[in-house]
This record gives sequence, structure tokens and C-alpha cells, in this order.
Amino acid sequence: MASLTGRTALVTGGSRGIGRAVALRLAGEGASVAVHYGGNEAAAHETVARIEESGGRAFAVRARFGEEDAVERLFEGLTAGLAGRGLDILVNNAGISSGHAISEVTPREWERLLAVNVTAPFFVTQRAIPLLNDGGRIINMGSTASRFAVSTQIGYTVTKAALEALAPSLANELGRRGITVNTVAPGAVRTDLTAGHTAIPEVVAGLEAITALGRLGEPEDVADVVGFLAGPQGRWITGRTIDVSGGTYLGPLV
Ligand SMILES: NC(=O)c1ccc[n+]([C@@H]2O[C@H](COP(=O)([O-])OP(=O)(O)OC[C@H]3O[C@@H](n4cnc5c(N)ncnc54)[C@H](OP(=O)(O)O)[C@@H]3O)[C@@H](O)[C@H]2O)c1
Repeated sequence: MASLTGRTALVTGGSRGIGRAVALRLAGEGASVAVHYGGNEAAAHETVARIEESGGRAFAVRARFGEEDAVERLFEGLTAGLAGRGLDILVNNAGISSGHAISEVTPREWERLLAVNVTAPFFVTQRAIPLLNDGGRIINMGSTASRFAVSTQIGYTVTKAALEALAPSLANELGRRGITVNTVAPGAVRTDLTAGHTAIPEVVAGLEAITALGRLGEPEDVADVVGFLAGPQGRWITGRTIDVSGGTYLGPLV
């Protein structure tokens, strides 16, 4: 039997990129997956279709983080799709980036980064906790950006550090129910989010040069780790950040 048979999962931003790979991974292990998206309905439906074609179960839920009542809308769709079942796995993955140095970040951009990357997952988690079954999992999508300096991403970096700060306190609060809470921190991964950078060979070469395993990440590299944490084998890891970057910025390679 697959390790997540009979389980339910919500993957925010599950329609594209890393979230899609996570949704496919969890569904492949037998979970019924709520594929959340913000606006790209076609991408969400494609993810659901790919899961169903493989014999899995999924449904799409739309809620645009940053808009008023987005979390309410998400949980209306989620509870309807769960049809009375609880939630076993929450993956707070949806996120946006920004490529600006501190001198360029406007208050509007700052507010938007915080709204999507911090406020939304905070209140999604708040709403999810009463729905979570004992033995459940919360996995937040951080970034190696919170570990080292990238001055042209400073707003994004601060939001990822804030998100990462949720896990230890929540792990303590929920541990007696067997619920684990962790952060997964990818390095550079090939998705729409990074397409502007990964289209430039010099940028790719520079990233490969600072990565021990010598290549950029793929969404599946991250999804496999989320799948591990979400499954029974991940039961004894909680309150931690798991670096999933192929060894980015470990130190000099020579
Ligand atoms: N790619 C990387 O190199 C990398 C590295 C480290 C960490 N991460 C993190 O991994 C997560 C996923 O990144 P990705 O590269 O897979 O991004 P992506 O390909 O751009 O996909 C983003 C996902 O989030 C959803 N989303 C974006 N804004 C939203 C909003 N306002 N409301 C609701 N949903 C929204 C998108 O849905 P719609 O299209 O429908 O809006 C989509 O499903 C993010 O948290 C990111 O910070 C990525």
C-alpha cells in the first residue's frame, strides 16, 4: 500500500512549479490532494488532470492571497472538497519573489511580499490546525535565501526568514498530537519563478559553480523531500529547516 493512502493534503500554489511536483508526489503516494492556485486555472486543472490520469485523487481550489477574504475562500473550497474528512498534510508552498535591493523596494511591494509569503501561510495554518488530524504534517516552503546574503532579493529574504520562524514554536505546540512542523529550504530551482534568471547561461553557470552537486534543482528534487517529511518515515523530524539545495554555498569548492 502507498504510504499516504487514505490521507488528505492541501498544497498551496500546487498548480505550478514546486507545488505541482509536490501535489503529484503526495497523490502518487495515495493522498487525496487539494491543489490550491491563485489565478492560473488552466495550470491548476492540468495538475488535477495529471493526478487523475495516474489514478490519483485531487481537486482544485482558487484563492488569490493578498485579496481580502482569500483564506476564507480557500477554506470554503477545501472543506467542500474534503467532504467531512480532516486534513492530514498542509504544505504552505505558494509564494512570490522580488528582485530588488533595499533602495528599490517600495512600500507596496513590501506589503505584497508579506501578504503572500507570510500573512497568507500564517492564517492558512491558523485555520488548518483545527482541521488537522493527529499525526498530521505542516511543511512550509522556505528558501536558502534566509541563509545567505542576496542583496537584490532582500524583501523576499525577509519573508522567507519570517516563514521559517513558524516551525519551532508550532512544532512545540502541536507535538503532543503527533503533528510535525518543518520548513523545506530549496536553493535555485527551475520554475516559472526563476525562468528570467535560468534563461541566462552565465547565471546558471554561476549558480552551478557555488553548488556542491553542480547543477540547479528541479521541482522533483524538492517534492521528494516534502514527500518524505509528509510520510511515516518523517515522523521524528520536527521544528527544523531542511536544506534542499544540492549543497549551495557550503564554502569554497577547492
Ligand atoms: N524556484 C525556486 O528557485 C525557489 C527557491 C526557493 C524557494 N522557492 C519557494 O518555493 C515556492 C514555490 O515556488 P515556485 O518556484 O514553484 O513558484 P511558481 O512556479 O511561480 O509557482 C507559484 C505558485 O504559487 C501560486 N501563487 C503565486 N502567487 C499567489 C497568490 N497571490 N495567491 C495564491 N497563489 C499564488 C501560483 O498560482 P497562480 O499561478 O494561480 O497564481 C503557483 O501555483 C515559493 O514559496 C518560493 O518562494 C522557490
